[in-house]
Amino acid sequence: MSPQRGEIKVVADATELAAAAAEEFTRAAQAAISARGRFAVALSGGSTPRPMYEMLAQAPYRERVDWQRVEFFWGDERAVPPDHPDSNFRMANEALIAKLALSPERVHRIKAERANLDGAARDYQDEIARALGEPPNLDLALQGLGPDGHTASLFPYTEALNETARWVAPNYVPRLKAHRVTMTFGLLNRAALVIFLVAGADKAAPLAQVLEGSEDPQRLPAQLIRPLNGRLLWLANREAVSRLRHPPVCVSAGGQG
Ligand code: 6PG
Repeated sequence: MSPQRGEIKVVADATELAAAAAEEFTRAAQAAISARGRFAVALSGGSTPRPMYEMLAQAPYRERVDWQRVEFFWGDERAVPPDHPDSNFRMANEALIAKLALSPERVHRIKAERANLDGAARDYQDEIARALGEPPNLDLALQGLGPDGHTASLFPYTEALNETARWVAPNYVPRLKAHRVTMTFGLLNRAALVIFLVAGADKAAPLAQVLEGSEDPQRLPAQLIRPLNGRLLWLANREAVSRLRHPPVCVSAGGQG
């Protein structure tokens, strides 16, 4: 894998993935809070990060982070109300945020239930600018990888891939017949740290293509994620790296590589 495609750490299973991600999150939060008094994170949706969010809400991670100094954002949201089963906000709120008793102004959800998603995206961009300044710099962007190579709601061959003027954009995904709101690659690439969480056999082919295949970000939007000055880390389980030509050694405690 070329250095600009990032570092990769392989762990054995889903529990170790959650623990490795919680550890990275905690260290990034501690470093940002001691340097700048604040930690700005964009959460990812989907199912993979949920065990990590649940772990962060419990000892020892819960006590290691000064949660009142964390600003929560979302990398993307589905066009549903915040209590809908598909809502990325709902998942992270149930797994982590509601357990932390934060002041509501620290929790910046995308209001993608609105009929006007362009307006929702513009308002979210303004909210990010008020919280983080302009241009906004996230301390951490958590990302997932879809079986089709998407990340956040940057899906193959969709309009938001070409958006270079906005930090947040609406995006229609014809394959899903669904509307989304997503941070654009320009904003995600300003993060100090980007961590992809990748687990499962259905991620093995896209992971190999994104990391070792030829450059084709329209087909594999995850390739758009190249932090300008930050670190790019892939945390993956063994199943997900099974199709890499050059798999890295397993770094988990009990791993054999
Ligand atoms: C979403 C996402 C999306 C997700 C990937 C991986 O709202 O769907 O944020 O980009 O991270 O699809 O999802 P899984 O973790 O469920 O495989």
